[in-house]
Amino acid sequence: MKILVTGGAGYIGSIMTRQLLDAGYGAIVYDNLTNGYQDTVDKRATFVKGDLLDKELVASTLGSHTIQAVLHFGGLISVGESMRDPGKYFTNNVSGTVNLLEAMVNQNAKFIIFSSTAGVYGNPQSIPIKENHPANPTSVYGESKLMIEKILSWYDQIHEIKSVSLRYFNAAGASLDGVLGERHKEETHIIPLAIQSVLSKSSFSLYGTDYDTPDGTCIRDYIHVEDLCHAHLMVLEQSLSHKISAVYNIGTGRGYSNKEILDTVEQISGKKLTVRTESRRPGDPSQLIADPSKITNELGWTPKHSDLPTIIQSAWDFHRKPGISS
Ligand SMILES: NC(=O)c1ccc[n+]([C@@H]2O[C@H](COP(=O)([O-])OP(=O)(O)OC[C@H]3O[C@@H](n4cnc5c(N)ncnc54)[C@H](O)[C@@H]3O)[C@@H](O)[C@H]2O)c1
Repeated sequence: MKILVTGGAGYIGSIMTRQLLDAGYGAIVYDNLTNGYQDTVDKRATFVKGDLLDKELVASTLGSHTIQAVLHFGGLISVGESMRDPGKYFTNNVSGTVNLLEAMVNQNAKFIIFSSTAGVYGNPQSIPIKENHPANPTSVYGESKLMIEKILSWYDQIHEIKSVSLRYFNAAGASLDGVLGERHKEETHIIPLAIQSVLSKSSFSLYGTDYDTPDGTCIRDYIHVEDLCHAHLMVLEQSLSHKISAVYNIGTGRGYSNKEILDTVEQISGKKLTVRTESRRPGDPSQLIADPSKITNELGWTPKHSDLPTIIQSAWDFHRKPGISS
């Protein structure tokens, strides 16, 4: 069975491609390499360098392979950049997805798993966050993802394309063998930033120490990238045959504070971080924790590698490799 992986040269998509191939699927990776790296694409996959905004190439890629399902990771991911350049995000993420869906309609490819985000919820009214929590994104990035979820439900209603939107909380860590990991060109995530600070002996900026949390720093729900990709495999195996559309949270239901992250980076690296305390960033909620019980109850998915030491050890092994953080 052949799967199209958009954004498959990126952090999560490259690890997903490897899991798909290991599980016996064929993979066609479609990525424009704006934020991905071709050397992270597994050699067993077919690679197409292409932009989702290139309607003709998207259509001909789907037309020249018999694709059973699409895993749609391709998109721009920076909250900060989306607030400076909203047009770029709506065009790339939303129009790119519409091009993909139109090609799916024409080629009779009827199933898509979409990389959505906890950012669709906005400031949480209750913790842990269930899928039926109101969706009020506080960024253009989150709004672009919510718009895509809504577009997907129309393509289901009108063209019977079934979709599963997975609302990731914080994807973290690297492949368990340390080979593939987070290498965003403009890094904004705390774990790679803290590791880079250790490795480059530069200071780490910690935003906000006066939140209403036990140690005063923000709390987030981190999901190991291997667990996250395994959730896609389970969805692919179960939802594809059941022909249902759904939305699931992907998180652990347990949060770690920024201080806990920094302490664990220090323990695993054996090095002391120089931490510079800064004021809060606007729009950062104090806690974001998933209620993942829907996917656990319906599909039997549970995370296996998402404890903080495993996440940070795998990220540390990855970032220490020559050429990654230096
Ligand atoms: N990393 C996280 O914690 C997180 C959390 C929630 C949701 N997500 C979503 O998961 C997906 C993957 O995230 P990631 O961390 O691997 O990001 P990433 O930037 O490493 O990967 C995204 C890939 O998409 C490609 N891409 C972007 N626009 C494209 C276009 N128009 N045409 C073709 N390719 C394009 C990039 O080159 C990149 O390789 C994204 O859609 C992101 O919004 C990630």
